[in-house]
Amino acid sequence: MYRSEVTTDESERTAFRKAEKKYKIYYDNTKKKKVTRPVDLSEVIDFKSILDDYNCNIELNDGVSVLNRDFDRPIFCLESRPGFYFIPGALSIEEQRQWIRESLASFPQPPNRTNHNAIYGPIEDLFVSAKERRVLVEVERLQDDVCSEVNALQSDVCAPRYKFVEEHGELRSKDACKSVPASVLLRKLRWSTLGLQFDWSKRSYNISLPHKKIPDALCQLAKRMAAPAMPCGEEFLPEAAIVNYFGSGDMLGGHLDDMEKDWSKPIVSMSLGCKAIFLLGGKSREDTPIAMFLRSGDAVLMAGEARECFHGVPRIFTDAENADISHLESQFTQEDGHAYLDYIRTSRININIRQVF
Ligand code: SIN
Repeated sequence: MYRSEVTTDESERTAFRKAEKKYKIYYDNTKKKKVTRPVDLSEVIDFKSILDDYNCNIELNDGVSVLNRDFDRPIFCLESRPGFYFIPGALSIEEQRQWIRESLASFPQPPNRTNHNAIYGPIEDLFVSAKERRVLVEVERLQDDVCSEVNALQSDVCAPRYKFVEEHGELRSKDACKSVPASVLLRKLRWSTLGLQFDWSKRSYNISLPHKKIPDALCQLAKRMAAPAMPCGEEFLPEAAIVNYFGSGDMLGGHLDDMEKDWSKPIVSMSLGCKAIFLLGGKSREDTPIAMFLRSGDAVLMAGEARECFHGVPRIFTDAENADISHLESQFTQEDGHAYLDYIRTSRININIRQVF
């Protein structure tokens, strides 16, 4: 499964698993507080400083080259991983702000599915409900008659079984123990899917699930980013996207993205919010992965051979010193902006966009 951690003895021994364990966050409990155990980051490639060197005409690290394509900024490649491209700072600060907002306020909206669907069915307005301190309660318990009408009219997929209510309003004392604060659900949001919906249980796209097209602005952005990795003369057609949400201590285990038909088309993967470590392995879990930092605004393209490489995110940095998001502080100043800033100060969002067919 996509987010599961592999825990068998066998997998503990693979090179990929060893690297995950090396970079994963561990806490030491001292008497007073939880302290993050230090980790050696000396082998983590930092494309931000590679870009600085490149801009100062300093020779690139061994194994790193720059792609000679018509693009508005340098694109770096790793000689040992053909088909992998790293674009540091690909998104402007304004684009980062825009996609953080969309990722929280609109991408988790039905018919897009999220990890909460399995338990609660489709839930509307998660982000605004968290901001307004609402709680989620079972619709049946509040309005038995209304709910059965809804169920009679709609299929299970679209009939809401839960809804958000004011904490001290509609919520009756007998409902209180069954309610979940929207803020808790927002913190537990792990993924949402845009465009063609991915069915995690079957590990395939289920084109019969209700869906909306990927928003136009995101398609345009993805096409622009994908261009350097596209086969000559072809245009990238964004059909599906997975948005991953990471909180402190979350990781994404090593996996392959292999459900799309044509691997010559890149996956366009964009980072927002707190800095992370990305592991790019080889075709086997036994290949030692290359570790690199991903910062807000960076984009990664994986095409061709790189589509067959295991990859994952063993760690994000949520402490003010290492998160590298100070440039976002000034972007969310208006009234409702604080809720976005509160979230992103301790979180990371990844939007990865695919052509499925
Ligand atoms: C993924 O591999 O699916 C996401 C990678 C990332 O979070 O950067």
